[in-house]
Amino acid sequence: MAEGRFKNPVVASLAGIRDFFSKQQLADRFTDQDRADGLTVLITGATSGLGFALATEFAKRGAEVIMACRSRIPEAGERVKELSGSDRVEMRFLDLSDIGSIHRFTDSLVRDNISVDICILNAATTLPKSRKTPSGQDEMFLVNYLSNVILINLLLQNSVIRPQDPDPSQENSSAGKTPPRMIFISSDSHQGSSAIDYNEFGRYFDYGVSKAISNYSYFKLVLNTYAVELSRRINRDGMKVSVNLICPGPVNSNIVKEAPWLLRMILKGIFTIVFKSPAKAARPVVYMALSPDYAGTTGEYLHMFNPKKMDPKVYDPAEGRKLWERSMELLKEIDP
Ligand SMILES: NC(=O)c1ccc[n+]([C@@H]2O[C@H](COP(=O)([O-])OP(=O)(O)OC[C@H]3O[C@@H](n4cnc5c(N)ncnc54)[C@H](OP(=O)(O)O)[C@@H]3O)[C@@H](O)[C@H]2O)c1
Repeated sequence: MAEGRFKNPVVASLAGIRDFFSKQQLADRFTDQDRADGLTVLITGATSGLGFALATEFAKRGAEVIMACRSRIPEAGERVKELSGSDRVEMRFLDLSDIGSIHRFTDSLVRDNISVDICILNAATTLPKSRKTPSGQDEMFLVNYLSNVILINLLLQNSVIRPQDPDPSQENSSAGKTPPRMIFISSDSHQGSSAIDYNEFGRYFDYGVSKAISNYSYFKLVLNTYAVELSRRINRDGMKVSVNLICPGPVNSNIVKEAPWLLRMILKGIFTIVFKSPAKAARPVVYMALSPDYAGTTGEYLHMFNPKKMDPKVYDPAEGRKLWERSMELLKEIDP
């Protein structure tokens, strides 16, 4: 059975407190010079928490921001415009628990001829128990892992994200530009999760709160393994898309909004007192997305402002290949 690092949400939150006080190695490298003028930034799950703060910060730094959200349209976008002083912000509907919605979202980007320079895969959910999606998967599996695979496939297949041609002699080559960047928002809680369990993979079954907490960190391990394999495959013949990962550290966000009432109160208390504001947590993500330090790097991981190694299983090419193949097989069944 797949096992994440934590089964108890209070223990998971308290583990985050230690991170809060850790040294931030690269914090001084992030400056006002890191601008996003002329860049289009797509952020999933931008209605609240980290995603909302990211939308605001990228807009302040000159980006065209696309907030891909399933709720708070248009209020969240209007608020980002107010806070950033930029009107280059738009919201588009995307429900990552509905495969059809991912297709309709991508179709709308294609129809409007949008080309994305920076894609932040931020949305995730924590649920108190299993919940079935219309396509029959567990909602956390779909939203926190597989929807990202579907979205990335569609964005690449439809040239919404255009891999850079690494050969500068080619006509229409984008030589001189830096490759587009994808950033997966992960969690350091993935460290120590079990190896991917293919008996459970994509299969719906009922579970309760401790398995749900465990799955949160386990699905981050699955997501990280996919991101590293994507980076390997897409950049096999030279640097085409920069695919990096980051854990923002403990964020005072809405991530526990579906927890039972008492637990939610306890967790919200911990979050409010010791966790970082979303604006502060967004800084290393914006740094990784804009800084020349990460232009043309791929497969790198930051834990806040600290370069770090992920769980060793994430880098295993055999694991990456197997996950890729099993994910594509599953997609053939549920998203032909
Ligand atoms: N909070 C932490 O301490 C912490 C620590 C490490 C990593 N992270 C990661 O940071 C990222 C952002 O989380 P957060 O803490 O900012 O939590 P949050 O405030 O709950 O934000 C999550 C976002 O994802 C969206 N979302 C959830 N299900 C969705 C769906 N089916 N379709 C589309 N969007 C959906 C939510 O939209 P709605 O508003 O519509 O629900 C919301 O905008 C996540 O990847 C999380 O795993 C958080």
